[in-house]
Amino acid sequence: MGNRAKLRSSTWRRQVLFPFLLPLFSGALSEQILYSIPEEMARGSVVGNLAEDLGLHVQDLLTRNLRISAEKQYFTIDKETGNLLVSDRIDRESLCSQNPLCVLPLEIVAENPLNVFHINVMIDDINDNPPHFPQNNIVLQINEFVIPGTQFGLESAIDADVGPNSLQSYQLSYSEHFSLIVKDKTEGKNAPELVLEKSLDREQQSSHLLVLTAMDGGDPVRTSTTQIRIKVTDANDNPPVFSQNVYKVSLRENLPPGTSVLKVTATDQDEGINAEITYSFKTLRDIGNKFMLDHQSGEIKSKDPIDFEISSSYTMSIEAEDGGGMAAECKIILEIVDENDNTPEVVFTSVSSSITEDAEPGTVIALFKTYDQDSGENGEVTCLIEEKVPFRIVPSSNNYYKLVTDGALDREQTPEYNVTITATDRGKPPLSSSRSVTLHIGDINDNAPVFHQASYVVHVAENNPPGASIAQVSASDPDLGPNGRVSYSIVASDLEPLALSSYVSVSAQSGVVFAQRAFDHEQLRAFELTLQARDQGSPALSANASLRVLVGDRNDNAPRVLYPALGPDGSALFDTVPRAAQP
Ligand SMILES: *[C@@H]1O[C@H](CO)[C@@H](O)[C@H](O)[C@H]1NC(C)=O
Ligand SMILES: *[C@@H]1O[C@H](CO)[C@@H](O)[C@H](O)[C@H]1NC(C)=O
Repeated sequence: MGNRAKLRSSTWRRQVLFPFLLPLFSGALSEQILYSIPEEMARGSVVGNLAEDLGLHVQDLLTRNLRISAEKQYFTIDKETGNLLVSDRIDRESLCSQNPLCVLPLEIVAENPLNVFHINVMIDDINDNPPHFPQNNIVLQINEFVIPGTQFGLESAIDADVGPNSLQSYQLSYSEHFSLIVKDKTEGKNAPELVLEKSLDREQQSSHLLVLTAMDGGDPVRTSTTQIRIKVTDANDNPPVFSQNVYKVSLRENLPPGTSVLKVTATDQDEGINAEITYSFKTLRDIGNKFMLDHQSGEIKSKDPIDFEISSSYTMSIEAEDGGGMAAECKIILEIVDENDNTPEVVFTSVSSSITEDAEPGTVIALFKTYDQDSGENGEVTCLIEEKVPFRIVPSSNNYYKLVTDGALDREQTPEYNVTITATDRGKPPLSSSRSVTLHIGDINDNAPVFHQASYVVHVAENNPPGASIAQVSASDPDLGPNGRVSYSIVASDLEPLALSSYVSVSAQSGVVFAQRAFDHEQLRAFELTLQARDQGSPALSANASLRVLVGDRNDNAPRVLYPALGPDGSALFDTVPRAAQP
């Protein structure tokens, strides 16, 4: 460039000087000499015969001593022939670069007389330079989301030659995805641009290799190529995909916290951050309390002991999200497998407060329920009564059972029962527990009073004091309370009904029989009473017993024989003896 600028400015100076010097020189130099040679001529090549063209005679040449005044000697003059010869390499491109008109001005100095001739040597371009790309390899990153029609500028190739030898056109290797246009031709830049013709899909083809050829217009044509590698960058057009939409897992209950439950896996066909997946729980607040999720690996571990009885299954959703924000979800169904870790329980829900001894067989006397939180066989419960008692279990619905009477009850014989019910499940091994209930049997007035003797005989000595107790009867009744509370009365006698109360009375409570008057053997020797013992049940039950009263004689009269003597032991005053014992 500096070279050219120098040449040019030198040319202008000479042009200014020329009219000034001209009158000094011969008038033969009216037109300027212009030679035209191709660049890169061999040293010694003849440009032209300067002597002849300047109108000098060959025989004068030695005296005129022609020489070239220039800083850089591209040329020399053959002093014998006057030929202008190439003496150095002449590269048009380094002399004139892209200037299509490359002219080297020369000052030819002649002596005797001193004279200066200006001549020009035009250097013509030859196609000695191929086009040349600044880079042999071009890498373009194009996102697969880019729409067809989008253009991508490429660096122009450079051809040092000019005119037809310069860069003329480009050619792109075949690609269904790309075409080439050349823009800004007016500015001489010949800038090629790639045009996307068809959408790219990284997952289908992640890179494309194109070859761009630049061609000049020389003969022969010289070319140059560059490789264009298109790296299709990911558009995160693929969401993560789980290996399964639904994962079903069975898990034993009571596993220690930290047990690995499952590992979900999602993959993403994208690349880089767009394929980086993080996992997270998508559902339910309590899931996070029960399970831990490794956000990187997708592994799920238990956090708390898993209790089947709290929940027999868990459903959760897990989201996989890639770094580009696309997400997918999968569902996890965790079935918890029951273990026999719960003992069955018996709970009495109601116990009859009034089980009476007259209860019919089959009467319901208690209701109870069994509970076993386990499921399946672990929760299947059977019940039995431990004791030998007149009760049996009748299953009802929903683990409810009835305890019913299974035979006659007799309070007087067994007033209470302890009934123990044992519930056993069918787990392996089985678990069981028992519960006891005390059943009190209510009384029924099912026993009449019973006199201790069916009949009584008493001997009473006459002249007894009035109010004296002359006998006592007693009856017992095994029933309870009023049902067993006996009261006594006289219900019949062989005395005159009106006279009865003036002769005897009985204490209702004690059964003591009192004489109401002094008996007189002479008037009344014997009488019989029917005593009744009656309980206070409702209805009341009663029993009769007879009491025979024999009034004994005392020597209270002057002897007079009116009646035969009664017996050898007639002297007994207050003596009761059973009738059977009487002779
Ligand atoms: C029933 O059980 C209670 C308490 O265990 C005991 O005191 C009572 O004597 C038992 N009754 C019978 C009839 O076994
Ligand atoms: C008891 O005696 C009375 C009076 O003779 C009679 O009416 C009643 O039926 C007797 N009771 C029984 C249980 O024999």
